[in-house]
Amino acid sequence: MRKKLIAANWKMYKMPDAARDFVSAFLPLVKDHSRDEIVLCPPYVCLPAVIEAVRGSQLGVGGQNIFWEKEGAYTGEISAPMLRAVGCSHVIIGHSEWRQYFGETDDTVNRKLKAALAAGLQPIVCVGEVLEEREAGLTQQVLERQCNLAFSDLSGLEAAPLIVAYEPVWAIGTGKTATPEMAADAHQVIRAQAAKAFGDETARNLRILYGGSVKPENAKALMSQTEIDGALVGGASLDPKSFAAIVLY
Ligand code: 13P
Repeated sequence: MRKKLIAANWKMYKMPDAARDFVSAFLPLVKDHSRDEIVLCPPYVCLPAVIEAVRGSQLGVGGQNIFWEKEGAYTGEISAPMLRAVGCSHVIIGHSEWRQYFGETDDTVNRKLKAALAAGLQPIVCVGEVLEEREAGLTQQVLERQCNLAFSDLSGLEAAPLIVAYEPVWAIGTGKTATPEMAADAHQVIRAQAAKAFGDETARNLRILYGGSVKPENAKALMSQTEIDGALVGGASLDPKSFAAIVLY
């Protein structure tokens, strides 16, 4: 059985004080919860506050991006060892907003994935089709390409900590969700690519999260699918009660 993981992607929201307040309100709501893993991914500047606030709890903390070099003259960038050094356990890589606004490609996703694994971070690699691709019947092809390139030059052993998030771009921030069946179909495509790249055992153990308008109202239907190993939650993770309701689906 794969343990589910529910991750909050706060994107570019919250100041450090608000991040601390979130954790104070959220922790009591999930204190008896041990079924799933919970990870918070705040903006970089909130990481110290959140890491301090979750100390002693079961919560993990992740960054929302990394650059692939360890250090160097890369103004404004943050490396995987830097996230490790401040206490992060996870990092999101290849989010569709990075692909859309900041020139992320399948190749840079692969470089970042290798850097995260080398530093001992658990990468959450995001893949997903845009609306035109879904309407043109290209979803499977797009997912195969994204996975194939993202997963290249890594062994099954190296890739063991990998987590993938299927985030159909048309469902992000739109209130539209993939049906549980659509998500499960996409997850099977991703798992098949993982099997090709890493072998059956790593693929069997790979956790594939769903992301895109996950809310307290639809979390149970999505999480009840055996193919869905958790959620990557944007908007509904900003409020402690709403994120707790998703965690406790
Ligand atoms: P929403 O939950 O706001 O649709 O965002 C999903 C997402 O992009 C998580 O990474």
